[in-house]
Amino acid sequence: MRRDGPFKGRSISVVNDLSVDEQRYLYRKARELKAAAAAGGDLSGFRIDDPDYSAYLIFLENSTRTRESFRNAAAFHRVRVNMFDSATSSFAKNESITDTIKMLVGYAPESCFVIRSKLEGVCRWLEEYLGPWAEREGHARPVFINAGDGKHEHPTQEFLDEFSFLERLGWKDDSIHLALVGDLYHGRTVHSKADGLKAFRNVKVDLVAPPELAMPAYYVDTMRKNGFELRSFDSLDEYLAAGDAAPIWYFTRLQLERMGESVLEKAPQLRRAVTFRKDMLGRIPRDARFYHPLPRDRRAPTIPTFLDDTPLNGWDAQSANGYWTRAVEMAMLAGVIGHDFQGEGKRRDGAEEPFVVEAPILKRAKPECKVGIKPVDTGLVIDHIASGRPLKEIWDRIDKIRRVLGLDLRSSHGVYHSNRGPEVFKGIISVPDLRSFGEKDLKKLGAVSPGCTLNLVEDHEVVRKYRLGMPPRIYNFGELSCRNENCVSHRSHEESVDTHFVRRADAGGGNRFVCRWCEREHDYSEIWTL
Ligand code: CP
Repeated sequence: MRRDGPFKGRSISVVNDLSVDEQRYLYRKARELKAAAAAGGDLSGFRIDDPDYSAYLIFLENSTRTRESFRNAAAFHRVRVNMFDSATSSFAKNESITDTIKMLVGYAPESCFVIRSKLEGVCRWLEEYLGPWAEREGHARPVFINAGDGKHEHPTQEFLDEFSFLERLGWKDDSIHLALVGDLYHGRTVHSKADGLKAFRNVKVDLVAPPELAMPAYYVDTMRKNGFELRSFDSLDEYLAAGDAAPIWYFTRLQLERMGESVLEKAPQLRRAVTFRKDMLGRIPRDARFYHPLPRDRRAPTIPTFLDDTPLNGWDAQSANGYWTRAVEMAMLAGVIGHDFQGEGKRRDGAEEPFVVEAPILKRAKPECKVGIKPVDTGLVIDHIASGRPLKEIWDRIDKIRRVLGLDLRSSHGVYHSNRGPEVFKGIISVPDLRSFGEKDLKKLGAVSPGCTLNLVEDHEVVRKYRLGMPPRIYNFGELSCRNENCVSHRSHEESVDTHFVRRADAGGGNRFVCRWCEREHDYSEIWTL
């Protein structure tokens, strides 16, 4: 069996780790596999069939469907299936997840790790950290599959959901009209829809949730950017009164375990707003079908059990589809299938725009190169610090530069008028004893104080001048922190994961930074702990 397909060694941390064409390929192959199995056909072309290939199922949060469908999919592949028992593992001795998995990589020539964890972004971190490490150590690059990370994403659930919708729509991907009903705030399966629904060419989404459980703005923005048509309603009653209800409804349970006290005490009334009732039956489209990632809360299901034996029940077949889609995902990432893939692959990170540019030296723009009252004859002058910002911010920025760059040597600083106007100020730091500035420090300076200039002065003349823009990435500073307490990099988890921010490159991204691991978006000022 050839094991060199184009997806070999890739990981799935988020839905977008597969391009839309790659997702469509997954659905096509899952359809083929399911049909071949139903017809009693030959399935060997889908199988990894290697007892040395290790599938590790690491579930640090509870699961039935995801864990069991992956376990069965791994059994289908005739590989080594390992159910990691976290309760009796050395996690109890404070071992990090990075150390744990690093060690497991050594137990087989090739491994696939399926991980469910509350640590958001954990699979992306492991993929980026342990992938190169494994290759250096002579192991195959391990594959990571996110089986649900906190409130972040659940990509394999998304793929089985889209597969189920396509199946319902006769494999036509031209359009979908879908209602998302329930806890849209905490539900990672509905968050993943913001990208997953791109498998359809025209998308209309009705969001049905009380304000306390509304879809976070980030995902609503993403849906709009993806061209989805959106409507929002606070309850099912409001939705049905508006008319034009969707033929496909996707319910979610209220995730009480993730709610704060203030929302929790309103749980019964919130649940009522998104629970289907008998009297609603006459007001939904005749061909409607309901889906749910499950589990349902048996005490108070949003899809009540009186619907189980009706044609509305799409959720039972949906959960069974998890087996086929996950078997295909494993086959793709092991390189068994994919040779017949055609279309656009996942886009690689593009070249990053330079943020340090050498600027022309203009005589009239000569900075005030002063230490005390003496001009700097030779040394460095950092100019235009927080230019045009309020005075307090300029002083804070000066302080931040000094601390981050460790400028605890003979030097001076101050706030001066800028030549941009009478009420415009800027900060200046002059350092006579520094003759050069390494690339790392230049990056640090750009990260701490975008927009400033660095002047190299020799014999009273500026001989080099650099203008520093906002860098495309900011990382490797002790003074950075992701604000998401569930992020794998958050210090409270003591996982020793580097904080790493990537500037949003899209139009409108401005100075907004996204955590490389959990994808939480931050303003530039929010990424610093200083
Ligand atoms: N849908 C889903 O993730 O179910 P489990 O929590 O049972 O895996």
